[in-house]
Amino acid sequence: MSIALVILAAGKGTRMNSDIPKVLHPIAQTPMLVHAMRAGGALSPERTVIVTGHGSEMVAEAVRNEDETAQVVVQEEQLGTAHAVAQARAALEGFRGNVIVLYGDTPFIDPDTLRRMVEARKTFDLVMLGFDIAEVQPRYGRLIMDGDRLVEIVEYKDATEEQRDIRFTNSGLLACDAALLFDLIDQVSNDNASGEYYLTELPALANARGLSATAIKCDEAETLGVDSRADLAAADAEFQARARAALLQQGVTLMAPETVYLSADTVIGRDAAIEPNVVFGPGVTVESGATIRAFSHLEGCHVSRGAVVGPYARLRPGTELAENTRIGNFVEVKNAEIAEGAKVNHLSYVGDASVGAATNIGAGTITCNYDGVMKHKTTIGEGVFIGSNTMLVAPVTIGDGAMTATGTVVTEDVEPDALALARSRQENKLGYASKLFQMLKAKKARRDTEA
Ligand code: UD1
Repeated sequence: MSIALVILAAGKGTRMNSDIPKVLHPIAQTPMLVHAMRAGGALSPERTVIVTGHGSEMVAEAVRNEDETAQVVVQEEQLGTAHAVAQARAALEGFRGNVIVLYGDTPFIDPDTLRRMVEARKTFDLVMLGFDIAEVQPRYGRLIMDGDRLVEIVEYKDATEEQRDIRFTNSGLLACDAALLFDLIDQVSNDNASGEYYLTELPALANARGLSATAIKCDEAETLGVDSRADLAAADAEFQARARAALLQQGVTLMAPETVYLSADTVIGRDAAIEPNVVFGPGVTVESGATIRAFSHLEGCHVSRGAVVGPYARLRPGTELAENTRIGNFVEVKNAEIAEGAKVNHLSYVGDASVGAATNIGAGTITCNYDGVMKHKTTIGEGVFIGSNTMLVAPVTIGDGAMTATGTVVTEDVEPDALALARSRQENKLGYASKLFQMLKAKKARRDTEA
């Protein structure tokens, strides 16, 4: 049976106190909406429709970046969840199958839960998703059940004392046949205190027509919604805790798990070791057996087997470290390929560059890649020795097996096996040190008496 996703993402999120639409706030460096899209995407939907409203252009861009085939529709006025779903009608023209309604601000839904909802659709016309609340609270609508049949959803403010004690509450997610869903939505009225059209009316409407409705249960953590910055921080912490636990389970060593910050797409291989206080930005893959030492920051990079990075290293997008490479303390690498066994161990910047196998880059080396207007490339061959404090003024090429002397400013290509030496010659003046000391001490004494 085909599936279409409708993800509601029109809300402003006033309590976020932000210029950015709520659903674009990130959890593990990934917009909340994208988390929801990926969860639904796991069911291989035939169509995906995102209902936007506040900041719709920004939301549309984030949607396109994740899935170019997803359709974005705009709900000009936010007149309630049923009105929001109604905006997807044209985008779902001709679609036959199940529609799953998701929320852009409910990022933790498990694809298996969505599969269970689709499974329940074989028996019931309308399937709502609920969860048991740990403590009685007014935020959620109560699911009024009769056996496994859902009779209606009653909001806390409208509920009787008895109903208020019900712990099984509405997440808002639902699954329903597409044609029936829009048919039922046409019947939803806005005859309520806020004059809005709510999806919560659907079970009662379905029952009134002699159709069947049910509610299946998921873990409360899955329907965790985000309304404020505090909720966002709590959701991120929850994500981090789960992602760290998953890595430990997969055989990754985390010396101090609670200090490692992960992105939603971080991939770390078995037997890799991550020391404390490491931040993984988006797009990082660390292969098995690599070590990331303390206080390193990585994004958009690939670290191969046996490589050691840090402590205090920064790997920026486009960094490709081959096997057994070394990137040491206070080294920044950007858009650069470091070939097998090459070492950049101390206080260096290597950007827009390629470094050949087994090359050693001395302390304090800088690839001067930017002339203030354009970026240029530095190409360093295999088995090269770059002396400490070498400035490589790009574009420049250093041939295989070449050397640069300490303190050299390289402005011209260096042939293979050549030694590049570009610094002024040293002169030693014998006996000058004590004379100079005496001169300076006398000068200081004169100053002190004048003062
Ligand atoms: C709703 C349910 C409640 C349920 C709770 C779960 C109603 C009356 N109540 O309340 O039973 O327990 O969700 O969180 O529905 N949205 C749009 N367009 C709109 C309106 C809403 O896109 O016109 C989006 C919002 O951005 C939000 C979601 O739909 O992501 C839920 O809407 P919201 O108004 O927050 O519902 P609740 O008041 O929380």
